[in-house]
Amino acid sequence: MSTIASSFTQRIKDSFKSSLSAQSRRKTQKYQSLSITPTEGAVGAVVTGVDVSKPLKPWQILALKKAFQEHLILIFKDQTLTDKQYLDFAAYFGNVFYPRPDVPVLASDPYGNTPAIVLVANVEGGYTGTGELTAHTDHHWTPNPSRASFLYALEVPATGGDTYWSNQYQVYDDLDDETKARIEHLQLITYNPFVRKIKGGEHVLYRNPVLPPISEAFPHPLAATHPETGKKFLYLDAETEVELVGVAYEEGSALIAKLRAHQKNAKYFYKHQWSVGDIVLWDNYATLHYRPAFDPNTRRVLKRISLAGGRPF
Ligand code: OGA
Ligand code: MN
Repeated sequence: MSTIASSFTQRIKDSFKSSLSAQSRRKTQKYQSLSITPTEGAVGAVVTGVDVSKPLKPWQILALKKAFQEHLILIFKDQTLTDKQYLDFAAYFGNVFYPRPDVPVLASDPYGNTPAIVLVANVEGGYTGTGELTAHTDHHWTPNPSRASFLYALEVPATGGDTYWSNQYQVYDDLDDETKARIEHLQLITYNPFVRKIKGGEHVLYRNPVLPPISEAFPHPLAATHPETGKKFLYLDAETEVELVGVAYEEGSALIAKLRAHQKNAKYFYKHQWSVGDIVLWDNYATLHYRPAFDPNTRRVLKRISLAGGRPF
């Protein structure tokens, strides 16, 4: 290794020494002005002392990436960013997710294109309205679902409009050995809710003038392995229509219902009450996110950036 590379490595090692030796989850980790404080919930850490509209230093980016792996969601407080600054910040963590044009997602136009920044808002031009969003990961039905997503809060209701995230590592770890063995090699199809929905027991297909009426299905492991930590997580949305490949319908439905009842437990969740200027970055593999319905007479405006991911395994 060259001297420059090894001295860089040494500096990174030094800056993480304290965190490597003291792995207590509840402690604030301080790196100069940057503080990372775990929430009281099952996931998440609050990040203060950094202005993410500016270029970050290598040690800051590495500290954030390490905290992101450990806590699964990072909550940045008091941020003010232009769209360009938001995209530049997000780029430290990966490239923007763009769907395959024939696999529609939230905000797809009739040709299957989506913007880099999606307006998640109950105002003109926004998506998701004010209704409940049941616990899900984004883009689960696509061949390569997002690795991570950001939401940046511009306007929030005084009460309500919270978002919950759950820890799917813990959900998996708490399964009994028999269930873990049962699901070890199972593949799950999560059907595309922008193509196919169940209404009153019937499948309704949304016919789009350009896109094919039936989306290809992309099965992914039900017990998936996180590509960075190597830990297993339960890769299952709370309510999206699913099907286990090669398992008889009744047996598969019973197993899914059992897993869903288990993952609903409040102990797996963190509740985030938004403030203007919050940016939440979440691991879109090992967490689900959920939003209860909120008062339609309030304004809630957030901007989302999703990052690309690889094929789940
Ligand atoms: C999303 C989403 C939740 C919320 O943008 O992917 O699920 O609280 N949003 O608005
Ligand atoms: Mn979502």
